[in-house]
Amino acid sequence: MELPFAESYRIKMVETIRKSTREEREKWIKEAKYNLFLLKSDYVFIDLLTDSGTGAMSDKQWAAIMEGDESYAGARSFYRLKDTIEMLTGLPYVLPSHQGRAAENVLFSSIVKEGDILPGNSHFDTTKGHIEYRKAVALDCTIKEASNTELEIPFKGNMDLEKLEEVLKTTPREKIPCVVLTVTNNTAGGQPVSMENIKGVSALCKKYGVKLLMDSARFAENAYFIKTREKGYENKTIREIVHEMYEGADYMTMSAKKDAIVNIGGFVAFRDEADMRKAQMFTIMNEGFLTYGGMAGRDMNALAQGLLEGTEFEYLETRINQVAYLGKKLDEYGVPYQRPAGGHAIFLDAKKILTHLPKEEFIAQTLGIELYLEAGIRGVEIGSLLADRDPVTRENRYPALELLRLAIPRRVYTNNHMDYIAAAAKNVYDRRESITRGYKIVKELPIMRHFTIELDRADR
Ligand code: F0G
Repeated sequence: MELPFAESYRIKMVETIRKSTREEREKWIKEAKYNLFLLKSDYVFIDLLTDSGTGAMSDKQWAAIMEGDESYAGARSFYRLKDTIEMLTGLPYVLPSHQGRAAENVLFSSIVKEGDILPGNSHFDTTKGHIEYRKAVALDCTIKEASNTELEIPFKGNMDLEKLEEVLKTTPREKIPCVVLTVTNNTAGGQPVSMENIKGVSALCKKYGVKLLMDSARFAENAYFIKTREKGYENKTIREIVHEMYEGADYMTMSAKKDAIVNIGGFVAFRDEADMRKAQMFTIMNEGFLTYGGMAGRDMNALAQGLLEGTEFEYLETRINQVAYLGKKLDEYGVPYQRPAGGHAIFLDAKKILTHLPKEEFIAQTLGIELYLEAGIRGVEIGSLLADRDPVTRENRYPALELLRLAIPRRVYTNNHMDYIAAAAKNVYDRRESITRGYKIVKELPIMRHFTIELDRADR
């Protein structure tokens, strides 16, 4: 008999989580103004709000924490981190930061100016925020196939090379500080970018003399998909693939809270010393001295170790298989989601579930609340609340897709939890006809409103 798949780790420490009753959850979500971000985590049974900073560190990472060098300058832990990044990516210059958006702040402070254009494949919210805050434009060049949730293609996170070339051709070079390639493409559903596409983007950058930034939060998951889906890579190691992915990159920003499996941390890496020197000042002003930039020595040690573990095939296989397992269960139950299953999350297609709900009543948010009420599971809305209002007209923006992201933390839940999540989603799906009323906004901030927004049941 063929042996079934089994996890590549065993569990040494556990944390109790508690179920609750539907009555309790009804009270709690009302008190939280129907905003899942405002719920206490103790009121959540399975927390799929994000895979960022929520992973379980290994015995070796905890051991590395004990060996942290807390020197203000020149810490051993910094050099361990820098050497690991250089070994993996070939980028030799590193500025640590406290997380991914801080890395963006440091880099963009040194290269982005008003009126610039930064083409990319679905810039992440904070990346877009840092670009728009500087009165520059984050121009989306993701392939159009990414917005068809039913279409199954292996590299749905790719950049549209024709569209990118058109932008590079028609925009003065000095107005494009860099192209932003996000691997994997979070916003499009944790979908990977192929090596062919990475090389295509890099060749265009070279042709037009523009720098390439890789937003690398989930770079190792991307490498896993290249190994398992792209011809010619099946016999290469994850680390060989990672090295090749970065051959054409000039900059790398990293939220280490994802693929480096730490609870906090990030960095910017550079190919050229001169580029790093230009950005140094912003690390010192915002993050800290150059050899710790917002992190304790112990955090840098855990990060360096996490980068090694995060680029091991067995670990990645366990990780991605778990997300795929949840996808397969949802297939059995006919629950629609962005196909194929992503690297770090399943994105339920709320418009295909709550088909009769008007968009003005926040379809994906309504689905998120229903899943919480059903089973104490917390996802996150990727829809019109997240999209904010149009900065000029102040009208709500309604994106083409209304998604509920179920992000799976690394090494945290078991496949029994996946079964539970799938069953809860099925129950909500089965009673979808009875969900006839969504939500209205009571209070909101002008930008990034979804974190703090207050809602109430829609009038009807
Ligand atoms: N880039 C990508 C692709 C991300 O997904 C994130 C964070 C960041 C940059 C910013 O990093 O949070 O460390 O400051 N994504 C999290 C998420 C928050 O839930 O997807 P950060």
